Amino acid sequence: MDTEKKLSGLTIALHWLVALSILTLCGVGIYMVQSEAWPLYHIHKSIGLLIFALIIARVAWRLLNGLPKPVREFSRFEHLAAKTVHWLLLLGTLAMPLTGMLFSGASGHGFGIFSWEIFPANYAPDKPGQAIPLSAAWSDLGQALHGYLGYLLLALIVLHVAGALKHHILDKDHTLSRMLGRRAE
Ligand code: HEM
Ligand code: HEM
Repeated sequence: MDTEKKLSGLTIALHWLVALSILTLCGVGIYMVQSEAWPLYHIHKSIGLLIFALIIARVAWRLLNGLPKPVREFSRFEHLAAKTVHWLLLLGTLAMPLTGMLFSGASGHGFGIFSWEIFPANYAPDKPGQAIPLSAAWSDLGQALHGYLGYLLLALIVLHVAGALKHHILDKDHTLSRMLGRRAE
């Protein structure tokens, strides 16, 4: 159980596993789109879908237990800002795989986890590799949302990390060290 002094191993493990994966997937996603690195697409989708399972577990854990209590008293504004950013981060991590699946499924490219095909591609019979969209409208919506939400999530992460560093360096409280597994005195 999470307390003011110490966070549970599950909270810490899920936080850092999801954080690292999301940052990697954003980096790979932006790189593969900009440099048209097609072989990376399948790897990006496969890892994104594996992480989706962790993301669901994490959101379920937070819905069941709420967010961790702050390490000390904060102003109402600071408490509300942190809570809002944390829930938006959780929502953003859920939205990324969902919109990725919407785009890949509706565009006819399909998706799966490595050799396990979950949603088959819809290729032109005479031109293998050329996808025929199942729905151009849903494909466009999925692509736009996946792209914009990705950048929005990155902006929120910058704000979140700045907040964590402010607690550590300026306020000198235990917010960051508690997420690193240490117990507050
Ligand atoms: C789990 C978290 C995920 C994150 C954080 C993430 C992040 C990103 C980012 C930042 C981009 C670049 C967007 C752009 O520059 O327009 C991208 C592209 C892409 N992602 Fe993801 N992604 C995730 C999961 C998935 C999943 C599960 C799928 C599909 C099953 C997927 C399919 C794609 C595709 C097809 C593109 C290329 C989009 C395009 O060509 O415009 N992603 N992703
Ligand atoms: C890489 C740098 C990161 C640092 C230094 C960091 C630091 C922290 C710290 C110190 C807390 C505890 C806040 C508190 O006690 O109130 C926290 C919580 C949280 N962080 Fe991060 N974080 C990072 C990346 C991320 C990323 C990439 C995400 C999601 C995309 C994320 C999502 C969350 C969420 C949702 C919480 C609320 C508690 C929980 O669900 O575990 N963090 N983070």
